[in-house]
Amino acid sequence: MRIDSPKMNVMRKACLKASKSLIRDFGEIEKLQVSSKGPGDFVSAADKRSEKIIIDELLKINPKYGILSEEVGAINENNKDNRWIIDPIDGTFNFLNGIPQFAISIGYEEKGEIVSGIIFDPIKDEMFFAEKGSGAYINNSRLRVSNKSKLQDSLLVTGGPKINSLLRKNIFEEFIKVSNIAHAPIRKFGSAALDIAYVAAGRFDGFWQWGLKYWDIAAGLIILKEAGGYVDFFEEELKNPINKNIIATNSKIHEELKRVIFKKNIE
Ligand code: IPD
Ligand code: CA
Ligand code: CA
Repeated sequence: MRIDSPKMNVMRKACLKASKSLIRDFGEIEKLQVSSKGPGDFVSAADKRSEKIIIDELLKINPKYGILSEEVGAINENNKDNRWIIDPIDGTFNFLNGIPQFAISIGYEEKGEIVSGIIFDPIKDEMFFAEKGSGAYINNSRLRVSNKSKLQDSLLVTGGPKINSLLRKNIFEEFIKVSNIAHAPIRKFGSAALDIAYVAAGRFDGFWQWGLKYWDIAAGLIILKEAGGYVDFFEEELKNPINKNIIATNSKIHEELKRVIFKKNIE
């Protein structure tokens, strides 16, 4: 029988509480889409509401723990030993457009290593979570990565680039290159947290993306590892470790995907 740690319990509680507010706000989006003002400001308020609920809940377990959260930034910055990494809505553009593909993501870091994490999709009621050494789960079932070992049999997912990304051209060229060489379908679903969770669940076989932030993927790191997957970062920015470029796979296609991504010439 699985016994969750107090930290997992508090993460779950925070997610469930914030998700009530998110579900309510998501229900309002359709109405706002037809209004002249549009849903932009409303969504950023929804984001902040969700974040506040999560942070208030997490700080209850220990008010001295560090927090790195997308909207408010850092709290208790000096605590490097215990830190929550939060994205209150991952997949904001989906949320904004009434597309039910977004999630709350919370990772817990101990001395710089993510040791537990939770990604909750409140609309599909899918909770992906893991603690180091205890396996990964979706709701009450064990999670396991896929068994595919060839890139050409795989279903891949990626994301970006952002409109203002300096790497825009390279990223689109890379997409064409990977598509041509891998001969595999590539999806873009717009929520990096769910993209990784889906690799952990064996729905996708591999995910890669440039220009992510730590909170997009922190929880996903442990969930994927505990589900038997493998994660690699590339071109890490030592001065700005919050920026992340990632390859996350079922482990079996990892080397092949990496070779294709870094292959020099477009064929
Ligand atoms: C975004 C999503 C998206 C990814 C972007 C992220 P947000 O997070 O994860 O999939 O392509 O790079 O910024 O802004 O919706 O929290
Ligand atoms: Ca995000
Ligand atoms: Ca976000």
